[in-house]
Amino acid sequence: MSKYVLVTGGAGYIGSHTVVALVENGYTPIILDDFRNANRIVLEGLTKILGFLPEIIEVDVCDDKALRAIFQKYSFEGIIHFAAYKAVGESVQTPLKYYQNNLSGLINILNKMLEFGVKNLVFSSSCTVYGEPKKIKEVSEDSPKNLPSSPYGYTKWIGEQIMEDTFLAHPELCLINLRYFNPVGAHKSSFIGEFPLGKPSNLLPFVTQTAVGKQDFLTVFGNDYPTRDGTCIRDYIHVMDLAEAHVKALAFLEDHKKGCLEAVNIGTGKGTSVLEIISCFEEVSKCKLNWSFGPKREGDVVEIFANCDKASNLLGWKSKLSINDAVIDAWKWELFLSEK
Ligand code: UD1
Repeated sequence: MSKYVLVTGGAGYIGSHTVVALVENGYTPIILDDFRNANRIVLEGLTKILGFLPEIIEVDVCDDKALRAIFQKYSFEGIIHFAAYKAVGESVQTPLKYYQNNLSGLINILNKMLEFGVKNLVFSSSCTVYGEPKKIKEVSEDSPKNLPSSPYGYTKWIGEQIMEDTFLAHPELCLINLRYFNPVGAHKSSFIGEFPLGKPSNLLPFVTQTAVGKQDFLTVFGNDYPTRDGTCIRDYIHVMDLAEAHVKALAFLEDHKKGCLEAVNIGTGKGTSVLEIISCFEEVSKCKLNWSFGPKREGDVVEIFANCDKASNLLGWKSKLSINDAVIDAWKWELFLSEK
């Protein structure tokens, strides 16, 4: 019998890689995506990797009627909810767009779960809920949450609150907030990867686009942070490792007969600075990157990386791929795109 999993935002960056991992683990993903932030190249890529194209329903996750029709058609084992806006800078310019879309999408999903008796939900949260860690830069799930620095961050923060309050009222639900650190890389086949619309705001796509000449140069935001080389430190996690974490999270929820609510960090446990990313890229690509220091970016966290013990103990998940693997795969993907 097919195990249907609804993957909202399943044509996006993390969503599409998770679709691959789901199929490889015996699930039948049903992709819900209206392609407002995804590129149709992903359809070709998924078909090449999987040998078939999973079902795609082109619908806005906020569309109540359309979502109900999908829940009427399928009996879902679980839902992985990715569909949301994610550009920090844009969220500062258009906060209402972010609050409206990201929060009403989640509420719509939770309402349909209650209406149709679907129990299991994995929510895309973010390490942004920790804000700037005060003293200890390695954060675990019980580290204090700090107020985020952007409306995007607040949508994740409030999203987790919505999950908590819904669980209190409906303790039969099985809910998990996966707190992603910094997803990077691409599928090893180079058939799917990250496809930033317009100018990328994240570091690695900016690096690879600079190297192929789509961007003139990379600005490193700030050089006098209190870190080992003066640049910010993040925990970069390969997107395929992250995709696997969703499969493990789903399996955990399925095994959980009673209701549960968990928050789990998904990172590598290792911090890497911006300059270390640049030298890793130059080493693996053998390209000299055109970059220079510029002013700090407002709202940037200085240093954060994950404590991943809970992911290992609760989900049996650990990252397997290195930052080198991620940079190689991101580079191969950029070269693949530039040949298209
Ligand atoms: C941001 C969000 C995070 C979100 C992620 C989505 C915050 C504080 N962070 O992460 O919640 O999940 O985007 O992908 O809300 N950098 C440069 N030059 C560039 C681009 C980036 O120097 O052109 C530096 C940044 O200053 C930072 C590092 O690279 O130190 C990583 O930046 P980025 O990829 O944008 O990720 P975050 O800011 O960590």
